[in-house]
Amino acid sequence: MTHAPLPAPDALSWRVEPEAAADAAAVDALVLAAFGPGRFAKTAERLREGARPAHGFVIRSEGRVIGSVRLWPIRVGQTPALFLGPIAVEAESRREGMGAALVRACLDAADGRGVLLVGDPPYFGRFGFRPAPGTLLPGPVDPRRVMWLGTGEPEGDVRVS
Ligand SMILES: CC(C)(COP(=O)(O)OP(=O)(O)OC[C@H]1O[C@@H](n2cnc3c(N)ncnc32)[C@H](O)[C@@H]1OP(=O)(O)O)[C@@H](O)C(=O)NCCC(=O)NCCS
Repeated sequence: MTHAPLPAPDALSWRVEPEAAADAAAVDALVLAAFGPGRFAKTAERLREGARPAHGFVIRSEGRVIGSVRLWPIRVGQTPALFLGPIAVEAESRREGMGAALVRACLDAADGRGVLLVGDPPYFGRFGFRPAPGTLLPGPVDPRRVMWLGTGEPEGDVRVS
């Protein structure tokens, strides 16, 4: 039996790029569509309020932003780290590996610093994120959804830096 060859990575019709200043409105619209207005009440949003992202990445299709993620500079206790989120891929383009590519771009950009997030364990566990019960976020959060990828066990208050 013969198999069709898998597409080479450079044959994909999309790639992860740094977010540009001009992408901000499109990213906001994508995140609003993915999470709804309720996200503004969330603790992760409280943490990011007034802060500037350290990194942002987008995926475009025909010039349109269809995926995005941001990384924020934080401290966990005294330790510098990064906070990942929000991450969103437009509904019509999911399950093509874009979410994974955005997470990997964040991990590359973290360059050894730990990455914290509030998210679904079944999704983020596949990248090696694990629960971070020693962290204290600025608001209520399900502790099972607070996840860390980095060396050691993160301990203490989480604040933007
Ligand atoms: C989460 C999200 C960014 C993933 O984007 P994506 O491009 O579909 O991701 P990938 O293609 O890399 O991975 C798809 C896989 O993840 C799974 N998956 C997606 N969201 C998941 C979730 N919340 N929990 C568990 N698994 C999830 C899919 O079922 C799929 O599984 P499969 O590989 O077994 O088919 C996208 O679904 C999204 O924008 N969701 C709405 C916003 C959101 O909930 N973001 C944060 C998640 S906590």
